[in-house]
Amino acid sequence: MRRLTLPRRTPRLVLRDFTPADFDGILAYSSDPRVTRYLFFAPRDAESTADYLEDLLDSQRETPRSRFELAVVEEATQELIGACDLSRIERGVFDLGYMLGTAHWGRGYATEIARSLAEAAFLELRAARVISTVDVNNRASIRVLEKLGMRWEAVYRKHRRAKNRWWDCHLYVLPREVWEAEQARRASAPDAPSPPAAQGSSPPSSSPSP
Ligand SMILES: CC(C)(COP(=O)(O)OP(=O)(O)OC[C@H]1O[C@@H](n2cnc3c(N)ncnc32)[C@H](O)[C@@H]1OP(=O)(O)O)[C@@H](O)C(=O)NCCC(=O)NCCS
Repeated sequence: MRRLTLPRRTPRLVLRDFTPADFDGILAYSSDPRVTRYLFFAPRDAESTADYLEDLLDSQRETPRSRFELAVVEEATQELIGACDLSRIERGVFDLGYMLGTAHWGRGYATEIARSLAEAAFLELRAARVISTVDVNNRASIRVLEKLGMRWEAVYRKHRRAKNRWWDCHLYVLPREVWEAEQARRASAPDAPSPPAAQGSSPPSSSPSP
């Protein structure tokens, strides 16, 4: 498998490998219940943060590496503000995710991260598809996936049991050909707005939430 070149830079962020020195920063954002509300894990305490950090540092040593769980650092302040990940789930298919401390929500950062990771998946890891699963009620994350041009593909009822409940999740998919067509369109008309989402790219409105 091809390699991901790190760190990755976006207009305002740096995506880099975590180090042991990131412990306090991780604990700060991932101990907040607002951040973990739509994530399968409960707010982290010091012990679970240590386990998580140890596990992801181990994953950096895998060869070939299949999991890229990365620190999100704000360029202007050099502050660790969250995490994002690109994980190979099968040949040519990568799962995309992100989380940010609440102080940094609503500034377009997740969209910037998602665009950068999708580009990395297609250009460096030779992905055929990038996918993401998202809780059906996680409106902010669904919006990020739609801004990235991902297509709604399915709803998984009772996708997972975590935190004492069943989770219904949407599956969003970005096929390589759709991403390439959008890159070509932007290159030829950089100022033109994105076309409206293709039919079938949003969940059916009848899709009930839990
Ligand atoms: C999901 C998350 C990463 C979004 O980060 P962000 O940097 O605020 O996202 P962006 O600013 O790039 O885009 C958010 C979009 O959602 C919209 N949005 C935010 N809250 C919303 C809501 N409750 N309902 C509908 N849209 C909402 C914003 O208006 C924005 O869309 P716009 O650009 O069209 O205005 C952040 O909320 C987070 O860390 N949540 C906790 C972890 C999480 O749920 N991760 C996703 C797991 S799948």
